[in-house]
Amino acid sequence: MKKIALLLAALMALTLLAGCGGQPAKPAEQAKSKVLNVGTDAGFAPFEFQDEVSKKYVGFDIDLMEAVGKQMGYEVKIQSMGFDGLIPALEAGNIDALISGMTITPERAKKVNFSKPYYKSGLSIVVKMDNNNIKDFKALEGKKLAVQIGTTGAMEAKKVKDATVREFNTAPEAFMELKAGGVDAVVNDLPVNEYYIAKAGAKDAKVVGEPLNSEEYGIATAKKNTELIEKINKALDELKKNGEYEKIYVKWFGKKP
Ligand code: ARG
Repeated sequence: MKKIALLLAALMALTLLAGCGGQPAKPAEQAKSKVLNVGTDAGFAPFEFQDEVSKKYVGFDIDLMEAVGKQMGYEVKIQSMGFDGLIPALEAGNIDALISGMTITPERAKKVNFSKPYYKSGLSIVVKMDNNNIKDFKALEGKKLAVQIGTTGAMEAKKVKDATVREFNTAPEAFMELKAGGVDAVVNDLPVNEYYIAKAGAKDAKVVGEPLNSEEYGIATAKKNTELIEKINKALDELKKNGEYEKIYVKWFGKKP
């Protein structure tokens, strides 16, 4: 009887071992492997920019994306690239998602899945402090304008009658051109223009013109990745409900949404 019991125990132990494949999964490692690679163009303060000291990417979008990732149980890895390269990077599968102050437009929505809007924005104009001619969009006619390539600002600037539009790879470069006197105005997102003037110490520039339009920013995933965009939407809903979204908003804009 004893022998049989021993034999049975040995058999059971063997089958158990075989069943595990010899490599028991460690839960901690599994959790770690859930990485969300997120693309952004980190030259768009206060939404995404590089902290001068820590060299880390920071901003409203970065905090929001990290909170969304956490909510979904993912570790978010941010990488910066040219704004006009973000949608191609999604399409090529080089990144899983993007957050970049990107306006939800019908054109872009043909190529990517947008989340629910997470921020209300609009375009405005930046001119030099001593410029008293340009007060609205109408006054941009025939003028030299600087914009960031691939943006809604670039699209709108190109519609202005007789204007010369100079496209720059980054928004800071467009601002620099204004400072250098190479253009009369920059057409860009209002919150970024305001931040540039208030925080970047651009005392020689000002924002003019009512916001030209109203735009909304969305997080995006590849067209085929509908499961991911649903998870992101759910996470956004949750962050709005639990007050986390508001906390992040207040941190970067100093007021409630
Ligand atoms: N909202 C504008 C757009 O979607 C500009 C966004 C630029 N974003 C950036 N990170 N540079 O075209």
